[in-house]
Amino acid sequence: MNILVVNGSPSGKNSITLHTALYLEKKFPDQKFTYLDAASRIHGLQKDFSPAAEALSGADMILFSYPVYTFIATSQLHQFIRLIKENNVDLKGKVASQITTSKHFYDITAHNYVRDNCFDLGMNYIPGLSADMDDLLKEKGQKEACEYFKHLLWCVRNKVFERQVLHERKPLVEEVDVPRTHVQPKNDKDVVILVDSSNTNPTLDAMVRRFQSKLPFKTRVIDLGTFGFKGGCLGCFRCAATGHCIYKDGFEDLLRNSIQKTDSIIMAFNIQDHSMGVRFKLYDDRQFCNGHRTVTTGMPMGYIITGNLDAEENLRMIIAGRGQVGGNYIAGTATNQTDPEKEIDQLALNLEYALDTGLQRTSNFLGIGGMKIFRDLIYLMQGMMKADHRYYKSHGLYDDFPQKQRGTIFKMKLVGILMNSPKLMAKAGDKVTEGMVGPYRKVVDNA
Ligand SMILES: Cc1cc2nc3c(=O)[nH]c(=O)nc-3n(C[C@H](O)[C@H](O)[C@H](O)COP(=O)(O)O)c2cc1C
Repeated sequence: MNILVVNGSPSGKNSITLHTALYLEKKFPDQKFTYLDAASRIHGLQKDFSPAAEALSGADMILFSYPVYTFIATSQLHQFIRLIKENNVDLKGKVASQITTSKHFYDITAHNYVRDNCFDLGMNYIPGLSADMDDLLKEKGQKEACEYFKHLLWCVRNKVFERQVLHERKPLVEEVDVPRTHVQPKNDKDVVILVDSSNTNPTLDAMVRRFQSKLPFKTRVIDLGTFGFKGGCLGCFRCAATGHCIYKDGFEDLLRNSIQKTDSIIMAFNIQDHSMGVRFKLYDDRQFCNGHRTVTTGMPMGYIITGNLDAEENLRMIIAGRGQVGGNYIAGTATNQTDPEKEIDQLALNLEYALDTGLQRTSNFLGIGGMKIFRDLIYLMQGMMKADHRYYKSHGLYDDFPQKQRGTIFKMKLVGILMNSPKLMAKAGDKVTEGMVGPYRKVVDNA
């Protein structure tokens, strides 16, 4: 088979992920591998996509190889997928799969994103390999990579492909009334609305204006579409040590002084390729200069979206996950699926409540699981990620390491001894569960 490895890492030849593909090439000499540096050559491909189109058309299988970047694929791979679609490259019937490396933090949403785009392109998709960035260095990881690939070839031979889940896509509402007058502003809060003028439409613009007129706070619109980004995150990791990005294009100042210092951030975007669009993704990736520090914890956020969000299960998980990991209450996701005016008004109302009361929500699995991965990662990499380590220490983010909770471990040992003894258990009877619920009963009694 002609296998085209689309390298979506901005690190190009120095991509860790790419080395899994290179390893597989050596292990499976009967297959023909070719490589396309999609991310590191993205500026050139934006000018002339024909070399990529030719490579894609000549392949039997497209293997996307990329690092997970902030819940999805890199902004460069987003751009590449956009270019495939804009250039109408016909990939129907070709086989697609993917290899990522990451720390498994939201690798699931990255894989779903690439899978959903493969389905858009009419490709036969086979689930990919999600490896930890260190896996290839271990025998177990090497074996897993080979087993993935062996199974991949078997799936191709036997035509075992993943079934596309079809979601109903409703016709969208395009008309949105924008009131002429603004509700009386309270002037004690500042809300930033992030937009992308390179991927917008009149409905989204009207929804943003309606939101501004209904929210009783001052709003500032920041256009990511016209901001002079020098480029997408290069994955150079320099910021991990210094806290500063190597690009000097003013983004750090915009992020730290104009965006993060506000009281609430609203993201207004048009769904594109199952995501928030290339520019928003670039904005997300470039926030890596902020490391893994959840500096906007407690800040309520909201979304204004055009497109069929209900049909975008993965994008909804990304929105929920980001709010959860960041410690941000999501005041709403207003869309134009059925009644944009009502949804906008509710978002404005609910955000007002959240800002007035400092509303917070407890974290669920998406937040707690994500933060545990971050906690372990930063602790391990404290020598390099110094600013993150200081932040995690000072904000008590290491306090939930289980080995630190000696009292609970000791108590549970005693409970274990009790429960392993039939004699003691017979004596204790109902007192075991009663003992467990006792402290809770006390709280209710004292309420
Ligand atoms: C901007 C940026 C964002 C990242 N986001 C994630 C993430 O969301 N989840 C994760 O597990 N790892 C994340 N990582 C770690 C990379 O996925 C990991 O380092 C990967 O192995 C790099 O592969 P590459 O050398 O092929 O580019 C991120 C790294 C960078 C630079």
